[in-house]
Order: sequence, then structure tokens, then C-alpha cells
Amino acid sequence: MAIYGRILVKSNSVALANDASFMGLIMGYFHLSANIAEMERRRAASKLGGGQKRIDAQHAKGKLTARERLDVLLDEGSFEELDTYVEHDCVDFGMQDQKIPGDGVVTGSGTINGRLVYVFSQDFTVFGGSLSKRHAEKICKVMDNAMKVGAPVIGLNDSGGARIQEGVASLGGYAEVFQKNVLASGVIPQLSLIMGPCAGGAVYSPAMTDFIFMVKDSSYMFVTGPEVVKTVTNEEVTQEDLGGAVVHTTKTSVADLALENDIEALLAARELIGFLPESNRDPLPELPTDDPWDRVEDSLDTLIPASSNMPYDMHELIRKVVDDGNFFEIQPKHGANIITGFGRIEGKPVGFVANQPMVLAGVLDIDASRKAARFVRFCDAFSIPIVTFVDVPGFLPGTGQEHNGIIKHGAKLLFAYAEATVPKITVITRKAYGGAYDVMASKHLRGDLNYAWPTAEIAVMGAKGAVEIIFRQDRDNPEKIAEKTKEYEDRFANPFVAASRGYIDEVIYPHSTRRRIALGLRKLAGKKLENPWKKHDNLPL
Ligand code: HXC
Repeated sequence: MAIYGRILVKSNSVALANDASFMGLIMGYFHLSANIAEMERRRAASKLGGGQKRIDAQHAKGKLTARERLDVLLDEGSFEELDTYVEHDCVDFGMQDQKIPGDGVVTGSGTINGRLVYVFSQDFTVFGGSLSKRHAEKICKVMDNAMKVGAPVIGLNDSGGARIQEGVASLGGYAEVFQKNVLASGVIPQLSLIMGPCAGGAVYSPAMTDFIFMVKDSSYMFVTGPEVVKTVTNEEVTQEDLGGAVVHTTKTSVADLALENDIEALLAARELIGFLPESNRDPLPELPTDDPWDRVEDSLDTLIPASSNMPYDMHELIRKVVDDGNFFEIQPKHGANIITGFGRIEGKPVGFVANQPMVLAGVLDIDASRKAARFVRFCDAFSIPIVTFVDVPGFLPGTGQEHNGIIKHGAKLLFAYAEATVPKITVITRKAYGGAYDVMASKHLRGDLNYAWPTAEIAVMGAKGAVEIIFRQDRDNPEKIAEKTKEYEDRFANPFVAASRGYIDEVIYPHSTRRRIALGLRKLAGKKLENPWKKHDNLPL
């Protein structure tokens, strides 16, 4: 009010000279103060959303409100709201008498560790967070702003879907959001947090963003809900079993992470954003570290077990290589035979892809290929260098894989690595067999630095399988088979045949892996490589 006090004082001094203009100013003041009161009223109404009862119901479900979520997501005091006063324009079903400023979505911008992000947070207390035309326009506005300046968009989804009272206007609103998701893809990072219902066509906006986090037990995503499923297929299924966080982070891979509650999900989003550039034209964010770039890890020299069929945990290698052991894993519970995620080397973000011998012996299958392909493409789109650790016995055999299209899905990963122009460093720790050797960021797919540990075995296949094919006529002679297997192992169960051809740039000590990668990334920082001009490629989908 102080500022308006000053206006009044100023008005008084003017009034001494001219009564008429004084009256005008007084009227103006009252008009202004009425507008201020109205502004405050509308702001308060917007903050209260659907009212205390509905806020209490939201809390009773273990969920935060739309604004409480933004408080956790963004740096303290950084949120600047836009479109607080937007209301729907629906006049059907008595909607003209039910207007709540903001119309079910809180939008604006703020910072995460000082870096700009645009946000929208659906307010379930207002018409179930359902999407009206105006609600959609608010989302589109923050997306447009984010695209103009080059900053990520984070959407907090908690919505009953299309605003039923609005009908087709709402559907149009969704489609406009979809269109913007597609145009923004690969330009700015897009992150979706599913923190409540997300059903019907509404799932397709998050589905087109780069990462989806879901909250366990309180969020779900499905195209048709349990009632429709029951009517059409007679299946009985709960919301959780149909499209809960666990289903989507284990079976379907629709989502990347399942978090225990809203706060964990929001903090995970803050962490992920810390690895990503603001846009595809911005530099990568750096996080200073005291971890020496040339730290020697002697324990890595004994990571590989004596028997080549024994598993070991590839996470250990990743954690020992990255700065301060800090690794942010993407899709840890799906296709776990390959590991994908972000770490930092010398403070700069790096995307890691690594076969995991602990799960299915680290084989490439449909899930692993799709998962890693999408990750590699994300890294390439945002100029994040890729480090690949290889221990892969090949592609998974079987009708299940073949009939479900491993040819096409495996090709996705091959395609992704081959088209990527970011710095690519590969370290073969143990097996690199067959087509999987080629696929896993090999020299032949424009790998920049291809290292192997002395324990590497680079061959068309494992010795036993190879001998059973080449010496089929001797299969009833176990002694001969054993002798030939040994011969094959001696010849190929090492990195030197590949290194003698230049397919491996250097055979390195495991303990020096971090130093080698750090040096490599320094040298590759100025890498310039462009693919031939094309409208777009034709990725095997
Ligand atoms: C308008 C809605 C709404 C909607 C919920 N509400 N969904 N209002 N349009 N889509 C309102 C409710 O009337 C209620 O208002 C409040 O939000 C909370 O809803 P409840 O049902 O009480 O909450 P809950 O029990 O938690 O159930 C949540 C729900 C359920 C599962 C989301 O509300 C529901 O099934 N809603 C309809 C979902 C739906 O069919 N949407 C359209 C899908 S098709 P009051 O005043 O009582 O608080 C679609 C097409 C998109 O989305 C196409 C894009 C291409």
C-alpha cells in the first residue's frame, strides 16, 4: 500500500493548484485501489484453487498441491507466475458460474540451482486439473517462451484429462500442446512428472517429452482406464496394475523413474536438470569437483572375475570412473542388462551406456536396444558426450526375440550410435562378440577413442560356440573339441587381434580408465563432425 500512499501525497500537492485535477486524481486513486483489491482477491482465489476441502483431500492422498510442488522443484523464491488470472470461457453445464483464476494449471518460470526453467503444474483441486482450452493455452505459452530463450520445460501432470464440459475445444487444446512438444523435441529438454491421473489422449504429451518420472501409488498413465478395459476385454485390473509407476518403469518403459513420493520425484527432477544443457545451442552445465581427473582405481584391475562366465557389477566401474561416484541412472528397472545414465567427468556431464553382466549376462535384447538407443539419441541431440563400457556376449537368441522384431529394435541402437556426432569413447572390458561388438560404439561406427582392457575378448562369438560350428564333424570327440576351443581362445580371447588392425586404439590398464576418459574428453571437446544434409533420417521404428 505504501506506493499508493505516495500517490495520494503527490495528489494532495497537485490539488493546491487545481481542484478539478485533484478530484480526477482522487478518482483515479480509488479506481486504482479498487483494482488492487481485485488483483489481490483474484490472486488469493487462484492460490486457493478448488478450496480448502479439496486441498485437504489432495494432502490426504499423500499428494502436494500444484504450488507446493513448485516450491520444492524451484529455487526458493524464484518462481514467477504468468497467467494467474486466466479463466475458462465455457458456458455449458453451468460452467459460466464456476470460474477459478488460473483455470487448473499454475504456469511460469523459475530457476533450479540458478538456471532458468519453465514450468506448468496442474492443479487437481480445480476441476480435477482437467484441461480446458485456456488451460492448454497457458501451457503453450510457457512452451513458446522456453523455446524463444532456450530453456527446459518441466510439466507436473495431475489431471483428469480433457475438460469434459468443454468437449472438442479441450481436444484442440491437447493437440496444440502435442504439436509444441514435437517441435521442441531435441531443441530444449522436456521433462514430465506424473503426480496423479494422466489418462486418455493426455498421456501423449508426456510420452513425447524426453523423460518421465512417476510417483508410486498416486500416479497412473493409461490410454483407456480399468472400466473401459473391463467392458471391452472383460479383464479386471486395478489402476496401479494397468498403468502405475511400477508397471511403466519395469514392463513398458513408458516412464524412466518411479519415486516414492512427490518430494522425491521433484528432487530427482532437480538433479536430472543439473546434467542437461538449457537447450541444444547452449553449453553443458559444469559442477566443480575436487575429484582428481587422473584418480587411479587399483581395484578395477581385479574387477573382471577369473572365469569369463562369472558376472560382475558394471555399476562399480561406472561409479569408480565418474566424479565423486555420482551417477544418475535412467530406467534402472527396465532392460537392466544395459545401464544408461548421466555422470560427470572433470565437472562436465557425460552419458554412460554399459552392458551389465549381472543381468542376462549383459546380452542385447529388444528392451536393452530400445532403451539405449533412445538414450544415445538424447545425448547426441543435446551434445552430451557418450562413454560406452562393453561386455556383451551378443544378441539374445529365441523366437520371443525374433518374432518381436529384434532385427528392427537392435537396428535402433546401431542407428543411434552410427548417426551420433558427439564425442564417443568406448572401453571394452571383457566380451565384445559378434554383431553386438559392432553395435556398441565400435571404431567402425565412428568411435573416437576405442579402448580395451587386457581382459577383452573380441571375436565373432565365444570359443565354445565357434568351435562347435567350425569343427562340427568332431562334435563327438570331446578331446578334439577341447583342444580346438583352447586354440580359438588363445587366438581370439584377447584385445590384440582387434588392436593390431587399429580397431582398438589402445589397450589400457583398468586402473587408468578415468584418466584415459578424462584426457580423451578434453581432446575431443573441439570435435566437429556433421552428417550429410537431409530432411530427417528414417530411423527403424
Ligand atoms: C471436468 C473433471 C474431470 C474432467 C475430474 N473432474 N475429471 N472435471 N473434466 N475430465 C472433476 C470432478 O468432477 C471432481 O469435481 C474433481 O474433478 C475431482 O474428481 P473426482 O472424481 O472426485 O476425483 P477422484 O475420485 O480422485 O478421480 C479422479 C479421476 C476421475 C479418476 C480422474 O475424476 C475421472 O475418471 N475423471 C474423468 C476422466 C476422464 O474420462 N477424462 C476424459 C478422458 S479423455 P468436484 O467438483 O466434485 O471436486 C481425454 C481425451 C484427451 O482426456 C484427448 C487428447 C487427444
